[in-house]
Amino acid sequence: MLKISRDDRQRVSFNLNGKKVHGWATTRMLLSDFIRYEIGETGTHVGCEHGVCGACTIRISGRAVRSCLSLAIQVDGMDIETIEGLTEKDGALTALQLAFRKHHALQCGFCTSGLLMSLSDLFNRKGKPSKDEITDVVGGHICRCTGYAGIIAAALEVASQR
Ligand code: FES
Ligand code: FES
Repeated sequence: MLKISRDDRQRVSFNLNGKKVHGWATTRMLLSDFIRYEIGETGTHVGCEHGVCGACTIRISGRAVRSCLSLAIQVDGMDIETIEGLTEKDGALTALQLAFRKHHALQCGFCTSGLLMSLSDLFNRKGKPSKDEITDVVGGHICRCTGYAGIIAAALEVASQR
């Protein structure tokens, strides 16, 4: 069995949801694993581990990224946002999170953190995205529970309020 000593790992530090964090990563450690197991923030979910399901989506420097397709050592010194940091500054749920609740846009919740990170990136970039733009982003995520209608309805409601 391959043994990895601490000497084989590199120190990685970055700003996570506005706070400086650090840990140790082997060269090939995925960012999703680093966030969950080294930092201990488990709101970022891992499904397929090859960029398809979208469950692991986070924001790096403001843009939505699959954390299972990134290496931990790639983000040293960068700004990372995960679902744990998505609320408003006072801790209140965002309009998108409230709309998800209102429109029953989640059931088991496995896909939810990734969808919220991707959609919040879309709203940040587009301001008032069209239905096609929303559908395009939602289509990049796999949800096995909801049938997507509630997710689209929630995002459309937020867009209509802008
Ligand atoms: S776990 Fe990253 S896209 Fe599925
Ligand atoms: S709510 Fe269960 S996978 Fe989307």
